[in-house]
Amino acid sequence: MKIVTVVGARPQFIKAAALSRVLRGAHREVLVHTGQHYDPLMSDVFFTELQLPRPDYELGISGGTHAQMTARMLVALEEVFAKEKPDAVLVYGDTNSTLAAALTAVKMCLPVIHVEAGNRLEALTNPEEVNRIVTDHLSTLLFACVPSAMEALRKENLSHRALLVGDPMLDVFLYYRAKDAFHLPQTLPGLDGQHCRLPQTYVYLTCHREENTRDDETLAQILLALESLPVPTLYPVHPRNRETALRLRERLRLRRVCLIEPVGYLESVALVTHAQRVVTDSGGVQREAFFACVPCVTVFPYAIWPETMAGGCNVLAKPEKADILAKLQTRPEWPEGSNPFGDGHACEKIVSALTERFILL
Ligand code: UD1
Ligand code: UDP
Repeated sequence: MKIVTVVGARPQFIKAAALSRVLRGAHREVLVHTGQHYDPLMSDVFFTELQLPRPDYELGISGGTHAQMTARMLVALEEVFAKEKPDAVLVYGDTNSTLAAALTAVKMCLPVIHVEAGNRLEALTNPEEVNRIVTDHLSTLLFACVPSAMEALRKENLSHRALLVGDPMLDVFLYYRAKDAFHLPQTLPGLDGQHCRLPQTYVYLTCHREENTRDDETLAQILLALESLPVPTLYPVHPRNRETALRLRERLRLRRVCLIEPVGYLESVALVTHAQRVVTDSGGVQREAFFACVPCVTVFPYAIWPETMAGGCNVLAKPEKADILAKLQTRPEWPEGSNPFGDGHACEKIVSALTERFILL
């Protein structure tokens, strides 16, 4: 079977690294990179360190409004699909690249396979929610990471297309942990070109969501909370809010929050694993904190990964200094029993289900 996989954003490169390894053992994969993330530290670094095969197509589409980006992707992807004539198109998660690929494929009568299906916030104000809903409803096969996602798919009458397989992000995490690949760097490149020494104890912050970065005041509240902690904070800054973060560093005279360049996956997980606490709005980072048993505060109005919230392991905070500081006091109780994110073999389950079910499509 010939499958065209479409990726474009940082978390998709990480998931694709895990799935491509297995997929290519059983099927022919053509990899398309839309270009949504393009800085070397947002793209190349993942291909290199996770040995993801180079893309067969690089579309170079990024930036602009959601409509502009998505529209350009629709046109370019149609050409690729017409040329490749795949048996199916595989997409991950909820980015504009995901939506564009699903929509293009369906219009060309190609089956869509959606990995990381079923997550819901019940809020269309979140820019990714519409991508998730539309992609799920257009897909022929839906692979859910967690029981809550299966339940959401059931409520939308999509159970017959869905399978609970576990989380490919857990597969990647366990794969590299077994290889002892999570090494802490001694120093980290600061946004100003100066290096910052790794503190013994620190909080790891990632924050890039449109909800938290669209105005200076929201991000300022988050940074002020972290600045007031007794331990330093390490904050690899997403290019989306690089200028804002630099501006706020001056305005708020930040001393304890260290703004650093984005790091690679292996360093990011090493930094999560050794952090005293994680503060984030990232879907991936809140799961990694859970996998590593590091208490997490998610600055976001919605629980996108409710399974991480058992026992207070991950708590939601408003983007307000007082609320973030209060939530950082939470003392989690780690749940016992089986991991709701699976057993680290989600990718094998996806590939065997795909092979079996495809015959019936
Ligand atoms: C996207 C996803 C989000 C995901 C995130 C992962 C959508 C709607 N959102 O958000 O779900 O959590 O990726 O990181 O698809 N930029 C650069 N260099 C880059 C990448 C982006 O400068 O390498 C700039 C872009 O030009 C753009 C801004 O950052 O102006 C935002 O990028 P975009 O891809 O639109 O959204 P993300 O915030 O990255
Ligand atoms: N990550 C990374 N470098 C960074 C910040 C995050 O490699 O500087 C990793 C992180 O460990 C996780 C993934 O990127 O594996 C999450 O991606 P992101 O936060 O961009 O997107 P989301 O998961 O929110 O969609």
